Amino acid sequence: LKRTPLIAGNWKMNLDHLQAIAFVQKLAWSLEDAKHSFDDVEVAVFPPFTDLRSVQTLVAADKLGLAYGGQDISEYDSGAYTGEISGQFLAQLDTKFVIIGHSERRTLHGETDEVVAAKTKAAVKHGIVPIICVGETADDLEKHGQSAVPVAQLTAAIEGLKAGVDIVVAYEPVWAIGSGQAATPEQAETVGAALRAVLAEKLGADTAAATRILYGGSVKSGNIAGFMREPNVDGALVGGASLDVTEFAAIVRYQ
Ligand code: G3H
Repeated sequence: LKRTPLIAGNWKMNLDHLQAIAFVQKLAWSLEDAKHSFDDVEVAVFPPFTDLRSVQTLVAADKLGLAYGGQDISEYDSGAYTGEISGQFLAQLDTKFVIIGHSERRTLHGETDEVVAAKTKAAVKHGIVPIICVGETADDLEKHGQSAVPVAQLTAAIEGLKAGVDIVVAYEPVWAIGSGQAATPEQAETVGAALRAVLAEKLGADTAAATRILYGGSVKSGNIAGFMREPNVDGALVGGASLDVTEFAAIVRYQ
């Protein structure tokens, strides 16, 4: 079964809506010049919520083969939840993906495994593909080894989902995020294989085989190819390097 690689750029709290428009235009030109085929590698950007409408308009007007997503989603559909964004609102903007349980949300906003599971269900309910982020801290690594925490986090996040569900998993060791110290491709493969085993156990072999597992943490144009050679790494969730169009385009053209 062929899994289309996914290169996802998480802008975090960077690029306002005018910068987002300029970025998406430049990215489209840059990938067009390189004869990039969106059938071979799927590309998605994750702008701040306030940029999504602009990105939607541009992608639709120029028929760009570029996907986009939110950086978070509310577990609720509507109501008195100040500051939250509903999956319904994201779906209305043709948002294909949503990042859930990023380590910055878990650490800075206290998101528990239960919240991550509820948000995952909310995304699926609204037809948005969740990118479920899991990963161990340096402390976890020392105490529990590399796979234990990501495996436990994924197990909790997919609780109650059914076989055939369309999800993406992102393995992001917390110690590798923004540190310049990426995991090795072998480390990413070891955890990727452990995560696929969880998917197989909980959702069945077919769903496990169809699900993309990304690596994230200090990915750059210089190290992407090594990760992409691993059988259980199907793409990357890129932070810092996704803010520079030339660098991000080079990551997309890793082959
Ligand atoms: O979501 C992206 C990750 O947090 C990776 O960030 O590429 O800046 O290390 P980074």
